[in-house]
Amino acid sequence: MSAVLEQAQKRRTFAIISHPDAGKTTLTEKLLLFGGAIQLAGTVKGRKASRHATSDWMALEQQRGISITTSVMQFPYNGKIVNLLDTPGHEDFSEDTYRTLTAVDSALMVIDAAKGVEARTIKLMEVCRLRDTPIITFINKLDREGQAPLNLLDEVEKVLNIQCTPITWPLGMGRDFKGVYHLLEDRFYLYTGDKHRVSEIETIDGLHAPGLAERFGAVYQTLLDEIELLQMAGTDFDLEKYRAGKLTPVFMGSAINNFGVRELLNGFTDWAPSPLPRATETREVQPSEEKFTGFVFKIQANMDPKHRDRVAFLRVCSGVYRRGMNPYSVRLGQGVRVSNALIFMAADRESVEEAYPGDIIGLHNHGTIAIGDSFSEGETLRFTGIPNFAPDLFRRVVLKDPLKAKQLNKGLDQLSEEGATQVYRPLTNNDIVLGAVGTLQFDVVQFRLRDEYGVESVFEPVQVYCARWLQADDERTLKAFVDKNELRIAKDHYGDLVYLASSSVNLSMTRERHPEVRFLDTKEHG
Ligand code: G4P
Repeated sequence: MSAVLEQAQKRRTFAIISHPDAGKTTLTEKLLLFGGAIQLAGTVKGRKASRHATSDWMALEQQRGISITTSVMQFPYNGKIVNLLDTPGHEDFSEDTYRTLTAVDSALMVIDAAKGVEARTIKLMEVCRLRDTPIITFINKLDREGQAPLNLLDEVEKVLNIQCTPITWPLGMGRDFKGVYHLLEDRFYLYTGDKHRVSEIETIDGLHAPGLAERFGAVYQTLLDEIELLQMAGTDFDLEKYRAGKLTPVFMGSAINNFGVRELLNGFTDWAPSPLPRATETREVQPSEEKFTGFVFKIQANMDPKHRDRVAFLRVCSGVYRRGMNPYSVRLGQGVRVSNALIFMAADRESVEEAYPGDIIGLHNHGTIAIGDSFSEGETLRFTGIPNFAPDLFRRVVLKDPLKAKQLNKGLDQLSEEGATQVYRPLTNNDIVLGAVGTLQFDVVQFRLRDEYGVESVFEPVQVYCARWLQADDERTLKAFVDKNELRIAKDHYGDLVYLASSSVNLSMTRERHPEVRFLDTKEHG
């Protein structure tokens, strides 16, 4: 086996999807704890960074790197190398959250046992569906009274339209939560331990092992009844279906108490796919190829005026990235000088020596790299599947000093290439409309316009409900539609046509009237 293939097969690159407060941060920390990347829970830097108000967030950014260090975490586990990519959650929810999901090979979905499937989870799941990303589910907070586990499975199946196969099942819930029963191993894991450290766990083999009924009484009987129901329903685990994104193995536990986390991590490292082949416009790239390729899915600007550089996050798709290499930018048609590429470890940033398929590297640059850029050793290939996502929030930009229009346009063009916001220019007036999926994106853009381009601006509410990219089979059809609906049409940064619907009724009526036009909620970059 080639060295590249051997390394690629060890990689498990994934992200956690969840609604705020379901326990993503807690679980991340516990995965690092079980992965040996930290020794004591409660030490992950920037743990609450995502909770801070905007001004605090800016201050944090200015101190350099807090969210950068938590952007990618790598640790070895069970002979595998795990790359966990952070998906910004609370106020810092942004298009980056979606795009990060284009750079992973699988995802872990965290659900709060009391709240069930929540809005943001549904949204993130839609993004995973675009590439049939395999998903493992963790039902969290079983140490609190929540919904019955069977109902939760039902909800996941119905709302998210994916088949569930329980792997671990809770023995009791709330104050009576004693442990889990592993259906595939036919073994109980009983928890008592320490929240902060990895401790020994008592295990008992066999669903009907002697002594269980006496020791656990009613909760054991409930578990037996539920397992019987599950077995009748016949939801066997099927690796192929999981890998195809059609079935999700479900683990139960309590992240904060370390319950069920090791079992989850074991299942994850056993089943989650290693780096998959990636599509480009011309061919499919295999991770085992000797030559290096990759694409950029996120750009993080440094808010510190003394360090006006940006870090572009590149996912390696094939070959080896070696220190000192100047990767070839397919868009620019030339090599990009990289002085110090970074790989991200749990506690620290480290200079990368070598990075393999599935790894993420950080490339410092001063604006030469854009979202969606493909890199290679010279081959002209463009990775697909790193789309723009239709935003949900809109603002109109008003300049305080009209003479700064040129700087404003320059700034917005640059910021949209970095993926900080989307920019729409209506056909029939001189407005500039910005689109985002999280409100913090607007604050960041406003801050950076002032700080980097010297432009004072005000963002006003605007009557836009959603944006949809327009497509039709031929240009004449599209032109006829545009002529008729000019008032609601704009061009995005790349000159592509966008319909800015004023309401959901407006969108559905326009759609109905024009079946010949496609209204798309994602668009490939470029
Ligand atoms: P997020 O990143 O998904 O937003 O969630 P986070 O991990 O920050 O967890 C949200 C809240 O839920 C936190 O409480 C956390 O302690 C709690 N939590 C996480 N896992 C469990 C669990 O297994 N059981 C219970 N009962 N609670 C859990 P908080 O009060 O908001 O913060 P903190 O002050 O406790 O840190």
